[in-house]
Amino acid sequence: MAKSLISIRDFSTEEILHILDIATEMEQNKSQNILQGKVIACLFFEPSTRTRLSFETAANRLGARVIGFSDVGNTSISKGESLKDTIKMVANYVDMIIMRHPLEGAARYASEICNLPIVNAGDGANQHPSQTLLDLYTIRETQGRLENISINMVGDLKYGRTVHSLLQALSNFKANFFFTSPDSLKMPDEYKEFLTERGLQYKETSSLNEYINCCDILYMTRVQQERFRNPMEYEKVKNFFRLDASMLDGVKPNMKILHPLPRINEIATDVDDTPYAYFYKQAENGMYVRMAIIAYLLGYK
Ligand code: CP
Repeated sequence: MAKSLISIRDFSTEEILHILDIATEMEQNKSQNILQGKVIACLFFEPSTRTRLSFETAANRLGARVIGFSDVGNTSISKGESLKDTIKMVANYVDMIIMRHPLEGAARYASEICNLPIVNAGDGANQHPSQTLLDLYTIRETQGRLENISINMVGDLKYGRTVHSLLQALSNFKANFFFTSPDSLKMPDEYKEFLTERGLQYKETSSLNEYINCCDILYMTRVQQERFRNPMEYEKVKNFFRLDASMLDGVKPNMKILHPLPRINEIATDVDDTPYAYFYKQAENGMYVRMAIIAYLLGYK
């Protein structure tokens, strides 16, 4: 079976570090023709700006060509074609499939029905492993290490797939966790149990001020409107947190604010010009890390 990136837990610590090292090479040499002749499919069953465009740019920068769709309305899925048949058809045409899908487990399923590398570009509220690798790259870039980081995850910890993947990855590096969320969007028990089984500490709060001054990374997330079944529940929490520049007076000098983006109201724009804001560079790093993921899964040494 081809090597895929479905969950961050599919990769060993050594593989994660290897991909981050390849990404450093990619940042130093942003165009390399090592995948000439390869064709990569980007299948986005859900909206995306960064993930799709940075994967497509990454493939182009490596010399590969890209096919795909970003709107299922223009495909035969709108006529009722199944996910299985869609994947099997596309697998006949390409060397790798990168896919985002609203259903948890969709990318795993795709990896089981075709013998191509599959990259999970987000499956429901479950995993977003390429985001995790770029988050790790950015944490290492800003802190000089991955070990023993204190990270404060803020916002929608229930539905936010980026925090679920990142928590699992950082458990390999003995991180100290703070979880800041409204009561209705707390980190699910399965992830807290995962940390406890590994002997790792976490603290929870619903106050953004409580742990802001003791973290190295303030990882902000938006409330995931598209995952709410009841719109009134979203209305109650959509503006629960709003970080502004005045709240950063007592933070650690090395602290950096990350956000997978898009942001809605959770970070005021006056934060953008502070030395703590790092989310635009984080998004840029996504391109280098995705170059590394594609090259690694297609056998680049
Ligand atoms: N971070 C992220 O997944 O952004 P997009 O939804 O724009 O791809």
